[in-house]
Amino acid sequence: MIKALINGDWENVPEAHLQLGADTFAYKPGLYETFRTLNHKSVFLEPHLDRLIQSADRIGLTIPFTQTEIFEMVKTVISDFPDPDQRTRILAMPNNLIIYTSALELDNSIYSGIAAITVHANRETPDVKTTNYKVCLKAWRKANDMGCFESILIDGNGVVLEGSRSNVFWVKDGILMTRQKNVLPGITRQTLISRSPFPVSFGLLNQSNFSDVDELFITNSGSGVIPVIKVDFMEIGTGEPGPITKQLLLLYNQWIHDGC
Ligand code: PDD
Repeated sequence: MIKALINGDWENVPEAHLQLGADTFAYKPGLYETFRTLNHKSVFLEPHLDRLIQSADRIGLTIPFTQTEIFEMVKTVISDFPDPDQRTRILAMPNNLIIYTSALELDNSIYSGIAAITVHANRETPDVKTTNYKVCLKAWRKANDMGCFESILIDGNGVVLEGSRSNVFWVKDGILMTRQKNVLPGITRQTLISRSPFPVSFGLLNQSNFSDVDELFITNSGSGVIPVIKVDFMEIGTGEPGPITKQLLLLYNQWIHDGC
């Protein structure tokens, strides 16, 4: 059972009912946000709530709580949980606003570089974070079954979209590149785009060009910047996290302190 705050009241919910993309997910489709905490303080909560409210407007979902009310509920959930570092989720569905949290439990070995596979798949509404997560769950499970950390989604033209639960960046000749459109406007992605000391440019990466990039990494709010050292069992760059990725990883870990 997971202790969750539902419309402001505590309830115990079976874990399977909250599993996004699974047949056991018990709620009507809606939106979700995942973010982390640091010492019992939420990290970059404001942009997550802004994205939630804007996305709700976009898809015509009524959230019967103000941003301030949601903020207060999030604070209640985070302070109730014993671990200082948590992964917290807001689910916004017709008639239900559900907030719950769990221990963050990051596996630090991912920062030495992870392996990813490519999967031909695309999200129906790429710029909105909907609970319609089936495509991503299937892609992620495939990666997991193959001993890999993430699946990189590839569109019908063989071009990289994003990860099943992350955005994708690559480095070429000192320039940080990411795709501009048809991907989730990730909060971590936006933080990197606005604060990177390295030049940032939007572009497209064909899956046949993974061998040409110098560095590759993925981002999400739970884990931050994660170097990718293999795609489809082929080494990227030197086969180790590159210098720009390592620098951004260090910087991001400082920025999350300002983002609390
Ligand atoms: N996923 N793209 C997809 C498809 C995602 O699911 C996520 C995040 C991201 C990165 O967005 P952000 O930086 O805002 O976390 C990109 C979260 C971690 C999840 O599925 O819970």
